[in-house]
Amino acid sequence: MKAVTTETPIDLEIVNDKIRELNVPKAGNATIREIKRLVDNIEAASGKKFIRMEMGIPGLPPAQVGTDAEIEALQSGVAAIYPDIDGIPSLKKEVSLFAKNFLDIDVDPAGCIPTVGSMQGSFAAFMTLSRLNQAKDTTLFIDPGFPVHKQQHKVMGLKYESFDVYEYRGEKLRAKLESYFSKGNIHSVLYSNPNNPSWICFTDLELQIIGELANKYGVIIIEDLAYFGMDFRKDYSKPGVPPFQPTVAKYTDNYLLLISSSKAFSYAGQRIGMMVISNQLFKMRSDDLLRYYSSNEFGRAMIFGTVYSLSSGTAHSAQYALAAILKAANEGKFNFVEQVKEYGEKAKIMKKLFVDNGFRIVYDKDIDQPIADGFYFTIMYPGFDGPALIEELLYYGISAISLSITGSEHTEGLRACVSLVNRSQFPELEYRLQKFNEHHPLV
Ligand SMILES: Cc1ncc(COP(=O)(O)O)c(C=O)c1O
Repeated sequence: MKAVTTETPIDLEIVNDKIRELNVPKAGNATIREIKRLVDNIEAASGKKFIRMEMGIPGLPPAQVGTDAEIEALQSGVAAIYPDIDGIPSLKKEVSLFAKNFLDIDVDPAGCIPTVGSMQGSFAAFMTLSRLNQAKDTTLFIDPGFPVHKQQHKVMGLKYESFDVYEYRGEKLRAKLESYFSKGNIHSVLYSNPNNPSWICFTDLELQIIGELANKYGVIIIEDLAYFGMDFRKDYSKPGVPPFQPTVAKYTDNYLLLISSSKAFSYAGQRIGMMVISNQLFKMRSDDLLRYYSSNEFGRAMIFGTVYSLSSGTAHSAQYALAAILKAANEGKFNFVEQVKEYGEKAKIMKKLFVDNGFRIVYDKDIDQPIADGFYFTIMYPGFDGPALIEELLYYGISAISLSITGSEHTEGLRACVSLVNRSQFPELEYRLQKFNEHHPLV
């Protein structure tokens, strides 16, 4: 309702009406799904297409090798049969090989477990890790982060703490983490790398600090690799050849990795991800687990306690798909990084369009290096807080989400996702940003 002129790319009255119909105190504070619905409604009423940057949906076709293998598996009748809870053997073997080839780590197939998306993997991890040690009842999030992980804590009634890493990059991370770990209540830490929403990528020094402190304080690190290999500044695409996707697993055995198939393999719809538990953590014993599980071994509790209770495993056919995708990647026949590079290339162009029109990148550096171009980037416009900027951009046909829901202290910022924006929309994006800049001159 604050657009300064009626000359906005999207009809002012339509936007005002639809915001009113949403019936929330401040449209800019709405959830991702509410923003999506609002934009759908404005698009339908105005007949104008938005530059949609609010949702992190893969914008590319699924890995073909996966689709083919899944069809074949279905035709052979796997749908009738319960898969093993901890995954079909061929998939477990390929995950273990994938970890060797692309992370340069050794994990037994036993600790490689398919999950119903990485989302179920994190749910299962939080549930089991919060029960490993009676004295430790809290997760620490290195934010900004993916809001659903906190929602998972809320629905399970679990405790968490968090901090925005912006001011604690490099060696400064050590004291900050130690200030939490030394209290003795943290059982695990979660961060995503590359990071959703800011696309910061931890350096090896930072991963080493996290690993060392995990060893010192007996904390488990949940490393969320939802955007595996997607720091395009380096080429992580060659199996068995350095450089490898950086990981905390190089510096500690206290790790549990979550690898999503959604973005790296554009396989979001089949809801399959991988949980990779270190050999040491898998075998870790704690009698505190017996309060909830029939085994005091972490790996057994995870599989036969948590994953069994949640879904009794992961869809059979999707496991064949993932096994085929990984096999092709492991054999160097499928360059999954090449397939998704388009995101980085689009981000580079889109970031420039925003910056040329007065916007600033919020999370702009990995310590001394410019941030990579990838699936997301963060923006702000002087004079606006995040919710106000979201609302104002609606009149210009541009949608994004506020960083305030990601645990970021940069509440003036927005997260922009490149995946659904088509290159053919770039001229229109440029025009709309120019109009925005013209109507909101910077002094
Ligand atoms: C950081 C992060 N973790 C996890 C997920 C969920 O992945 P999946 O689709 O495999 O459940 C996402 C999806 O957007 C994500 O961004």
